[in-house]
Amino acid sequence: MSNQLEKVKELIDLRAQARLGGGEKAIEKQHVQGKHTARERINMLVDEGSFEELDMFVEHRCTNFGMEKKKFLGDGVVTGSGTIDGRLVYIFAQDFTVVGGSLSETMAQKICKVMDLAMMVGAPVIGLNDSGGARIQEGINALAGYAEIFQRNILASGVIPQISGIFGPCAGGAVYSPALTDFTIMAKGISYMFLTGPKVVKTVTGEDVTQEQLGGAEVHGARSGVTHFVVETETEGISLIRKLLAYLPQNNLEEPPLRENHDPIDRLEDSLNEIVPDSPNKPYDMYEVIGAIIDKGEFLEVHADFAKNIIVGFARMNGRSVGIVANQPKTLAGVLDINASRKAARFVRFCDAFNIPLVTLVDVPGFLPGTGQEYGGVITHGAKLLYAYGEATVPKVTVTLRKSYGGAHIVMSCKQLRGDINYAWPTAEIAVMGGAGAVEVLYAKEAKASDDPAKFLAEKETEYTKAFANPYNAAKYGYIDDVIEPRNTRFRVIRALQQISTKKQINPPKKHDNLPL
Ligand code: HXC
Repeated sequence: MSNQLEKVKELIDLRAQARLGGGEKAIEKQHVQGKHTARERINMLVDEGSFEELDMFVEHRCTNFGMEKKKFLGDGVVTGSGTIDGRLVYIFAQDFTVVGGSLSETMAQKICKVMDLAMMVGAPVIGLNDSGGARIQEGINALAGYAEIFQRNILASGVIPQISGIFGPCAGGAVYSPALTDFTIMAKGISYMFLTGPKVVKTVTGEDVTQEQLGGAEVHGARSGVTHFVVETETEGISLIRKLLAYLPQNNLEEPPLRENHDPIDRLEDSLNEIVPDSPNKPYDMYEVIGAIIDKGEFLEVHADFAKNIIVGFARMNGRSVGIVANQPKTLAGVLDINASRKAARFVRFCDAFNIPLVTLVDVPGFLPGTGQEYGGVITHGAKLLYAYGEATVPKVTVTLRKSYGGAHIVMSCKQLRGDINYAWPTAEIAVMGGAGAVEVLYAKEAKASDDPAKFLAEKETEYTKAFANPYNAAKYGYIDDVIEPRNTRFRVIRALQQISTKKQINPPKKHDNLPL
């Protein structure tokens, strides 16, 4: 064999060795736990044959605790680029088979390299997390590595989409990298995120709690809202990442990809003319409205199990990506509260950062009253949503279906918060407050003095409702641009979006804003 051929063979052998990560036994352990390896995950994620790996020969440099004898080619993370539906993405996937995917200094350098490349060319970064956290043997160098990653997460925020799949443990300060990214996906039964594990919790607070109870997918999907998507399996999670990216642009200077649309834009949905119940206290399902107006009913919901009183997610209208924000009358009557405000504010800001127009469907009775909300800071949290809509410069189309009362009316993309086109259905009730509350304030003395206060107030309520619970008062002032037939909503929204698609609006120059965090 010639010298050159020998060298080529050596390269092939080294590559094969690197591809084995922590070795066959560790791979088997990973499979037994129902998990895939880092490379298997990447192969599922990218277009076939598109992955270009980087830094396959990087090794850690630690010599503490005998680590010099425990080296693996590529160390505990696989990094590189690939394409998804032909579009470039950068990827890092932690390899649990190598020292539990724990983060070494050199691993951090590998991750930072792909993040820097992604920023340089303007392509999304996808991180697949499965790690025991900072590599204990490396001490402060591992911590410094995390900080380097966090810094890049921060600078990339709002410039390129950043998506985190959590497909194993993600503990300690390590959770802050996913938390800084735009979307987090967790799979039931295998994904965990917590700042301190069950043992520390027990020591500090005496509380007995399992990993699942403390930071499993369902906890973060429904209670904390830390994760945006909960899936049954890793495979489902990975295909969700592909689906999500299809709605997003490559970076903040580009538009989202246009999809060919086979759903007639003037499709009339007669059911919408009858969807609002006669009784204002009766709910209907906002999902039906969303499904009826978007292309082919295809809706990618974000935060589906968290703060269900508001719905947010991606859809297409005439092939263009839109962000949908809609109150859900079926849950808590669609009221705005702390969690709904936080959820919607973050979504609105994401859409605005990435040039995705907003379509807002309003049916909101107001903000949830009470000490629970006030003590929890609903003023600050509600202000986040108000702020998000007010600062957003993407095209904004709002349709008020039924209730739109008080502060909540303003918050939900009203005209004065630079709503571009604001429509209302004939069933809309746009006023300072609902009839019952209003007459109690206006006629308290008169009611007391009357023979039958209840009857008196009921009559006044009917008068008030007739006068104010309609869209025409707002339309009289131009606060509503038109009152539309519900069944024609799809067409009117699409046409509005077309008209304002070239919108250019620039906020005053500043170092950065100071939104009420
Ligand atoms: C070094 C680690 C490690 C770590 C796991 N390993 N975590 N080595 N540093 N942080 C090693 C294990 O020793 C083991 O090595 C291999 O990885 C697989 O781990 P197992 O424990 O066998 O796996 P499993 O039973 O599935 O348990 C997984 C685990 C557990 C729950 C993640 O390993 C664990 O609790 N690890 C420590 C988690 C932790 O406290 N990390 C520090 C968090 S603080 P061998 O050689 O036996 O195969 C932190 C600060 C970040 O990360 C701050 C950023 C700002």
